[in-house]
Amino acid sequence: MKLVGIVGNNYSGSHNRMLLKFMQQRYASQVELSLLETKPLPMFNQDDEDHPTQTVVDFRAAIAAADAVIIATPEHNHSIPAVLKNALDWCSRVEHPLAGKKVMIVGAALGPLGTVRAQGHLRQILDSMSIAAHVMPGNEFLLAHAMNAFDANGRLTDQKDIEFLDTCMTNFIKFVEA
Ligand SMILES: Cc1cc2nc3c(=O)[nH]c(=O)nc-3n(C[C@H](O)[C@H](O)[C@H](O)COP(=O)(O)O)c2cc1C
Repeated sequence: MKLVGIVGNNYSGSHNRMLLKFMQQRYASQVELSLLETKPLPMFNQDDEDHPTQTVVDFRAAIAAADAVIIATPEHNHSIPAVLKNALDWCSRVEHPLAGKKVMIVGAALGPLGTVRAQGHLRQILDSMSIAAHVMPGNEFLLAHAMNAFDANGRLTDQKDIEFLDTCMTNFIKFVEA
């Protein structure tokens, strides 16, 4: 099963990228997970939608070619980061690579709520008519206090976090195969 994992921030030290890299390694025997960065995408402008940059073309093509998508979102001011919204806007005009695509949402934040507000917004956005993704219900993997959650090798340290992530991933594989 080929998956892409969208890194929801453009920050070099992103904990959400760390989370996706951890998942890439931990589930390597079950899925092939490639990371997709939002950073190279230009700001969406309707003037450009019929002539997108190669980075936009490649981003959308990677999603279209995948069996399913994982989105790792940070929380910026109680919502998803602008770079992630920008990427999703590019996937909502002219081409709709997320339409009907199975999606799993995960998120890591420094605060105690672990992106719960951003994840709610992300579900709403993915449900929009022009994106129309098929998001796995429930299975809200919310990583709080992310600054303490990884060891020096980028591995999650809390066994309960790992067990719940395993459960969510098992459920997602079944959801994609169904
Ligand atoms: C502009 C900005 C707004 C933020 N707003 C929130 C917030 O509303 N809730 C929260 O839990 N953390 C917030 N944070 C802190 C993030 O949890 C933290 O930056 C986290 O590391 C983001 O994920 P990342 O490491 O993948 O970039 C904010 C950070 C930034 C830079």
